Amino acid sequence: MKPLSILVLHGPNLNLLGRREPGLYGSLTLDEINSRLTEIAKELNVSLTTMQSNHEGVLVDAIHGAWGKHLGILINAGAYTHTSIALRDALLGVKIPTVEVHLSNIYQRESFRHHSYLASVAIGQISGFGPQSYVLGLQALHHHLTKDSE
Ligand code: DQA
Repeated sequence: MKPLSILVLHGPNLNLLGRREPGLYGSLTLDEINSRLTEIAKELNVSLTTMQSNHEGVLVDAIHGAWGKHLGILINAGAYTHTSIALRDALLGVKIPTVEVHLSNIYQRESFRHHSYLASVAIGQISGFGPQSYVLGLQALHHHLTKDSE
């Protein structure tokens, strides 16, 4: 069977994982998280593309570029989660099923992190499980994309 194609998007400052506020975000680097996701993707017969950018427009372009190429998007938009109508509009524009993830529990943090512009256009959101949020998000997205063929 042809693998399902999923795009993993990491937003601003996530390139600093491993040394960025480890008490909040854990000690794994972004490369280590991506490797773990790639292993799980193999088990799920998913073809995974990962990318990180600190630039909102680059992330918007990546979402546009996913159209016709990827069947699902797993996104941790970092701080753009709380500010970016452009990312929300891009996801609405391409209509690709999306799961939003966060390492930290954004609802236990400052009130400005309690609102996500992406949550209401995503299938769902996973927040607070550290790097495991990505794993759970990938599994949830895979389940969503394959549930009708079971
Ligand atoms: C984050 C939470 C955001 O509020 C923050 O700006 C990040 C990381 C998380 O994964 O917990 O950069 O998305």
